[in-house]
Amino acid sequence: MASISVFGLGYVGCVGIACLAKLGHRVIGCDVDINKVNRIASGLPTIVERDVDEVMHEGYKVGLISATSSPFEAVSKTDVSFLCVGTPNAADGRLDTTYLMSAVRSIAEVIRSKSTFHIVVIRSTVPPGTNAVAAALIEKISGKREGINFAVASNPEFLREGMAVADYLNPPLTVIGCECRRALDYLRRIYEPLGSEIIEVEPKVAEIIKFVNNSYHALKVTFGNEIGAICKKLDIDSHSVMELFCKDTQLNISPYYFKPGFAYGGSCLPKDLRGLNFLAESNQVDVPVLSSIECSNNVHIQRVLERVQEIGARSVGIIGLTFKAGTDDLRNSAAIRLAEGVLGKGCSLSIYDRYLNIAQDTETNLRELNRRIPHLLPLLVKNVEDVVENSSLVIITVRNPKMPELIRDNPEVHFLDLVRLKDQSVETLPNYEGFCW
Ligand SMILES: NC(=O)c1ccc[n+]([C@@H]2O[C@H](COP(=O)([O-])OP(=O)(O)OC[C@H]3O[C@@H](n4cnc5c(N)ncnc54)[C@H](O)[C@@H]3O)[C@@H](O)[C@H]2O)c1
Repeated sequence: MASISVFGLGYVGCVGIACLAKLGHRVIGCDVDINKVNRIASGLPTIVERDVDEVMHEGYKVGLISATSSPFEAVSKTDVSFLCVGTPNAADGRLDTTYLMSAVRSIAEVIRSKSTFHIVVIRSTVPPGTNAVAAALIEKISGKREGINFAVASNPEFLREGMAVADYLNPPLTVIGCECRRALDYLRRIYEPLGSEIIEVEPKVAEIIKFVNNSYHALKVTFGNEIGAICKKLDIDSHSVMELFCKDTQLNISPYYFKPGFAYGGSCLPKDLRGLNFLAESNQVDVPVLSSIECSNNVHIQRVLERVQEIGARSVGIIGLTFKAGTDDLRNSAAIRLAEGVLGKGCSLSIYDRYLNIAQDTETNLRELNRRIPHLLPLLVKNVEDVVENSSLVIITVRNPKMPELIRDNPEVHFLDLVRLKDQSVETLPNYEGFCW
């Protein structure tokens, strides 16, 4: 049985207290709002939420739940404090951590006089870097050392209001970002009974994941609604469409396409997206999300060019010109636009593309190559080594098995990787840089 304090008795804290008690832990709630403290101290939830009354009552009945407005009592009687304090938007949009830091400060003051190890767990959604700021603040106020006397962990909350108790007891996954093994093991013991996967990550990864999740959820809703608005105009049942859409778990509801790196291109994505936007426009349907996708893709290509300029290379190489590996298809290839942009910046350029070399050698599609990239064909070289030899900067747009060795053997050449080779031997080299990762 762990001894846990929960700071912030709103939606997240209230559900947390009830569920931690259900898992057999002794829990003390703490809030600056005395009404909330009084409710929890009487075994009553502070929110309206399915199942929470019952679960809270069970824990209260067996003496596992109490509450206080005194941070001293909450921290001195427990080994771990879960922070579930609100982090509302400030006027400029940032998440305001004022309340959270005020709770951290009050905990730090108690840690100063505490002789046992204390773990501070941030459940609230906070900007990346907040863990480190909280740890530094605790060190300053308490005079104690992080990792020795206390630890700070980020453990984002994934519950959905309306089914928060069920979500708490059956989370999609449990994420813990912490640099202290002792704290990680302690938290693992708390969450193991839930049976969900527990993933240890860097604190900043744990902190940003909630922003990413919720922004994606918002994108899903707006995407679905824009599709719905177009379908309605065309007298198509949007629910049939989206049900069908969700059935494709290889490309649609899947990790596919979720790898930050380079822009999309090819014969289908740009063409069909434009076609859908035309359908919307010609039916007077405003679709800001769909109509801004192409713009975002263009900005991304521009970002690579800006990086090329920052690096200051005059001789550039590109590995891969077709729109993806395994094809000689150049239609709407983002790499072509990148190559043209590089030339436009006045750099010399050499290009290696295995599939275009095959196309040239076998005279397959040669007319098409001459039609589409007459200006780039003379820049194609036969070997990937030649690109590296000719360049001070090499941009990798497709995987090539020779790249890791070439990166290791050519420290004077800078490599900008848009696909992530996933080779441990090069990831920390100073001449190797991931773009967007
Ligand atoms: N509501 C959700 O579904 C949900 C889900 C996941 C994550 N989150 C995140 O969890 C955090 C809490 O959200 P919420 O909806 O429970 O907020 P809430 O506003 O319902 O509750 C926050 C509580 O913190 C208390 N508080 C403020 N300062 C305090 C202090 N110094 N000491 C102790 N208590 C203090 C407030 O009095 C309030 O009771 C936020 O960062 C939110 O983004 C919320």
